[in-house]
Amino acid sequence: MTSFSAKRIVFTGGSGKAGRHAIPELITRGYDVLNVDMVDFPDPSANVFTLKTDLTDSGQVFNALTSHFNFGGYEGPNVPGPPDAVVHFAAYARNMLVPDNECFKGNVTSTYNVIEAACKLGVRKIIIASSETTYEVCFGQGDLDYSAFPLDEDADVNPMDTYAISKLCGERVARGFARRFDADIYALRIGNVVEPHEYERDFPKYINDPKLRKRNAWSYIDARDLGQICDLCIQKDGLGFQVFNATNDTITATFPTRQFLEQWCPNTPITREMSEWEAPLSNRKIREVLGFKENHNWRKYYNPE
Ligand SMILES: NC(=O)c1ccc[n+]([C@@H]2O[C@H](COP(=O)([O-])OP(=O)(O)OC[C@H]3O[C@@H](n4cnc5c(N)ncnc54)[C@H](O)[C@@H]3O)[C@@H](O)[C@H]2O)c1
Repeated sequence: MTSFSAKRIVFTGGSGKAGRHAIPELITRGYDVLNVDMVDFPDPSANVFTLKTDLTDSGQVFNALTSHFNFGGYEGPNVPGPPDAVVHFAAYARNMLVPDNECFKGNVTSTYNVIEAACKLGVRKIIIASSETTYEVCFGQGDLDYSAFPLDEDADVNPMDTYAISKLCGERVARGFARRFDADIYALRIGNVVEPHEYERDFPKYINDPKLRKRNAWSYIDARDLGQICDLCIQKDGLGFQVFNATNDTITATFPTRQFLEQWCPNTPITREMSEWEAPLSNRKIREVLGFKENHNWRKYYNPE
């Protein structure tokens, strides 16, 4: 149902792996959400309205951002205006789905279109999905090492693969538009997204074969906790352009972080004190700046002992 007082959030790419859990989390937290995607929301019982939109077409984006959220919108007194916030998750979510040039074109164009339309329509809060892959190793050629641990947001990053470069370009667009429109645009460097059913299936492999998770820096984000992070970003005003790692608190290993990293990445320096089980792709900034408190630590769903 449409509530005429709740904050209105346009969420792009909500039919995907992350959005299908993040949107219900936002609805539980009291928001009205319109899903803007090319395909329907996968769970019909969740009552999420999808406006079929190709975000690489700027005209469609401007229209989608000034759309009713569902047919209930016609019952209210007003024609729709822009939303209170935009969460932009739509993308080719990795390399090798389409040829590299299409990945670059699709991701950079849709991110540009969403940020431009939102800013020009007066939206003051935009959250975009960036990626762990910007830290170079995930889709880097060969067995690369990270430059240092923990991976913090202020590191200089220079990824070589197209998907990560497209995400870094998105961050750059965000930074420029935040400056030009004095808007808050927060880029989430999202870790490997884990859905509820994946803990039991995948974590035994991750724990038994640590090499498997090097490209994800032995870190992850629960898709529902990612919804919480979006909520916290919507609530936190006035930070301008920001990059936030979006990961859960702890390393996906059964040894404490320092001991584990010294064994598996002996040549990589550890540049600050890390808490005993801190995720190498550290979420310290979202904990300290946004007040993130994870609800879904992996050990709740898989006990390796
Ligand atoms: N899955 C991960 O582990 C991970 C990790 C880091 C970052 N990310 C980023 O998080 C976001 C969400 O990832 P995901 O795993 O849910 O991806 P996904 O591929 O499951 O979902 C992406 C959604 O975007 C939609 N989409 C793609 N192009 C579109 C377009 N032109 N117009 C409208 N909709 C379009 C797709 O239909 C799909 O529903 C992406 O931006 C991805 O790059 C994901």
